[in-house]
Amino acid sequence: MRDPYRLDGRTVIITGASRGIGAEVARAASRQGAGLVLVARDEERLRAVAGELPGPSAVVAGSVADTETAANAIDAAEELGGTLWGLVNNAGINPYYHGIVETPLAEWDDVIQVNLLGAATFARAVGRVMIAAETGGRIVNLGSIAGLTGLPNIGPYNASKAAIDAMTRTLAVELGPHGILVNSVAPGTIGTEMIAQLLTANPALREKLVAKAPIGRVGEEPEAAEPIVFLLTDAASFINGHILVVDGGRLAAG
Ligand SMILES: NC(=O)c1ccc[n+]([C@@H]2O[C@H](COP(=O)([O-])OP(=O)(O)OC[C@H]3O[C@@H](n4cnc5c(N)ncnc54)[C@H](OP(=O)(O)O)[C@@H]3O)[C@@H](O)[C@H]2O)c1
Repeated sequence: MRDPYRLDGRTVIITGASRGIGAEVARAASRQGAGLVLVARDEERLRAVAGELPGPSAVVAGSVADTETAANAIDAAEELGGTLWGLVNNAGINPYYHGIVETPLAEWDDVIQVNLLGAATFARAVGRVMIAAETGGRIVNLGSIAGLTGLPNIGPYNASKAAIDAMTRTLAVELGPHGILVNSVAPGTIGTEMIAQLLTANPALREKLVAKAPIGRVGEEPEAAEPIVFLLTDAASFINGHILVVDGGRLAAG
């Protein structure tokens, strides 16, 4: 009998795999036997991640905001072989810190292009291949607890993540009949470069973020990555359209 936690013979495309949560998803999925297509802009860092993996992988350098990057990722998955089974829409940015009334529209554009339209472009391209192949599959989108609350000063980011959850539910309904299950993971604060940047610009935030977490610390990258990999496996075969909050209880604390 197949181990429901294994991913042997299955290929997963991971966007934003050059560092942080995406790189950690790559390590965890590779340990479970998946073949991986790693996508991000920084080719050198992608190659460094690929070099650490125990299993097969390919690297695609490009922005998720360019439609050709998704096409290149699908070509790379075909070359790698195996079934194109999974997509992890993880690439994301959160570079600005102003109230909405001070936010220039160009900043909305930047964030929405990457966080929402990048994910939509990949879901569209990969979903079409999975439907045609009739193999079923999995899409995991990265939301955030920021999409479920009104955290101040990161309005476009919050809106992009709430939209990711809305897209997840719609995709789950549209693709479920094809055996393609679609879920979001909504992390709390995970200690990656994205958070380091935010805290460098706003040191007072650190205390607030930690004070609100019932377990008294920020999360580590594997603590966000392992639940994402779980959703890619057969162990999660009846989970569809779900928003999995991975925040150490921060949202529960209000
Ligand atoms: N860390 C947290 O506390 C937290 C909490 C909730 C949700 N999340 C979400 O989790 C995901 C990963 O976050 P992280 O903390 O790991 O961030 P990170 O350390 O900043 O990594 C972001 C990744 O996305 C890639 N990326 C950014 N813009 C891209 C673009 N235009 N095209 C392709 N790749 C792009 C980056 O690679 P390149 O620069 O090489 O392109 C990098 O690999 C994001 O969607 C984020 O919103 C994070």
